[in-house]
Amino acid sequence: MSVNIAIDGPAGAGKSTIAKAVSKKLGYIYVDTGALYRSVAYTMLRDGISPKDAAKVEEKLSSLDKNYFSLGFIDGAQHVFAGSEDVSDKIRTPEVSMGASDVSAIPYVRKFLFELQRSIAAENNVIMDGRDIGTVVLPNADVKIYLTASAEVRADRRYKELAEKENCPTFEQVLADIKQRDYNDMHRETAPLKKADDAVLADTSDVDLDGAIRLILDIIKKSR
Ligand code: DC
Repeated sequence: MSVNIAIDGPAGAGKSTIAKAVSKKLGYIYVDTGALYRSVAYTMLRDGISPKDAAKVEEKLSSLDKNYFSLGFIDGAQHVFAGSEDVSDKIRTPEVSMGASDVSAIPYVRKFLFELQRSIAAENNVIMDGRDIGTVVLPNADVKIYLTASAEVRADRRYKELAEKENCPTFEQVLADIKQRDYNDMHRETAPLKKADDAVLADTSDVDLDGAIRLILDIIKKSR
């Protein structure tokens, strides 16, 4: 039986950085499920479809092969594909971030991506991060963690990442985006972001990256 560790939490809580480091230490595969929702949003934007237009998004998705979105692991790093296109870098823009939050509220999109996530977890030891992993995708995960930090701390971290790129938004824009995405993710009808009853809460507002990694490794050790 494979070992499944679920990490959920709001945007910018450091899930991917922490989960990546922890999975390397444990020799597990790290699965970033947000990348799948981002790939759906990217595909819609690429084809001129608004991520908010549920009917059009559904029509487009239903025309695609059920394996259209896929994950590959190259030297331990996750790559995400839309068809044969490696979209791993293209999905990291603010526009795709917001679009991902929009498409993720559409039940058909969640259904479309569900089996892929389940089958990866069934076949591999994984640390899977997202919004509904402990609540919906892997309700029987061996360890569940809800990772969070204050909106200001999360916006500050995101802003520092974006500051190195072209067309960097202001800190206020980044904070507003984070708050908007929190609201969307927590208030949608299908699989909203929330802590699973049996998840351990980890707040990283006051710890640095190394401290957060230690905290998560410690929770995993104690929970198994
Ligand atoms: O983790 P992220 O920022 O890459 O996620 C992008 C969006 O995808 C996020 O706003 C909510 C959505 N998402 C989701 O609804 N369920 C998941 N398991 C992962 C992400």
